Amino acid sequence: MKWENGIIDSLVWGKEISRREEKERVAQQIAARVKDGEVLGVGSGSTSYMALQAIAGRIKKEGLHIKAIPTSLEINIACARLGVPLTTLEADRPDWTFDGADEIDPHLNLIKGRGGAMFREKLLINSSHKTYIIADSSKMVTRLGMNFPVPVEVFPQALPYVGQALKSLSPAGVTLRMAGGKDGPVITENGNLILDVWFDTIPDDTETAIKSITGVIESGLFMGYTIEILNP
Ligand code: 5RP
Repeated sequence: MKWENGIIDSLVWGKEISRREEKERVAQQIAARVKDGEVLGVGSGSTSYMALQAIAGRIKKEGLHIKAIPTSLEINIACARLGVPLTTLEADRPDWTFDGADEIDPHLNLIKGRGGAMFREKLLINSSHKTYIIADSSKMVTRLGMNFPVPVEVFPQALPYVGQALKSLSPAGVTLRMAGGKDGPVITENGNLILDVWFDTIPDDTETAIKSITGVIESGLFMGYTIEILNP
C-alpha cells in the first residue's frame, strides 16, 4: 500500500546544482555501467543524486533488478522517491560504489564530506570491490585543502579534546560546522558534530593521525584508496 500524503514524492534536490551539464555526463557514464542483479553503494551529494536519477531511468525503461545501499538520509529518501529498491550493508555487500568528491589531487587522494556523510561514505567505499568517483572539472586540484577544509565527525562529549588535538595538527584553523536550517551546530545522521579543519599542507599520514584521536568517528580525507575517477 502506498502513502497518500505526497511528502516523499514532493522532495527534490534542495539547492541549485552547479555544473549541471558536466554532472549529467558523468551520471550517464555511471548508469551505463549498471548490470542487472547488482547491489550498488550510492554516494551522497548532487553528482551522486544525478547518477541515481539516471539509474532509476534505466530501471524503469529496462526493468533492471538492482538494490541500493545509500550513504545518507537524503539518498535514502531519493531512492524511495525514484523507485530504487533499498538494502543494507548487513544484508548485502555492494558489487561497486559510486560517489562524488569535493577535491581530488593528482595522486587521487580526496576530500569528501561537504554533505556531512563521510562516515557512511567511507564505510561503503571500504566495503566495495570497486569504487568510481564522479567529479566535474572544478574538483581537480593541485593540492588537497585548496578550496575545502577536511571535515571531521566528532563524538559530542569529545569536542573540546578533539578540537585541541586537531589544532595541534593544523594551526590553520578548526571551526565547528553550524547548521543552516536549525539553531546551533550541524548534527550528523549518527548524532555527532563536525569540525572543519583547514590545512596548509596535508602530509600522507594525516588521515591516520586524525583517526587516532580519541573521539574522532571519521574524517573526510581519503588517502591512497583504490578508486577510479570518472570525469565528464
Ligand atoms: C557528501 C560528499 C559529496 O560527494 C561531495 O560533497 C560532492 O558533492 P557534489 O556532488 O554535490 O559536488 O562527500 O558528503
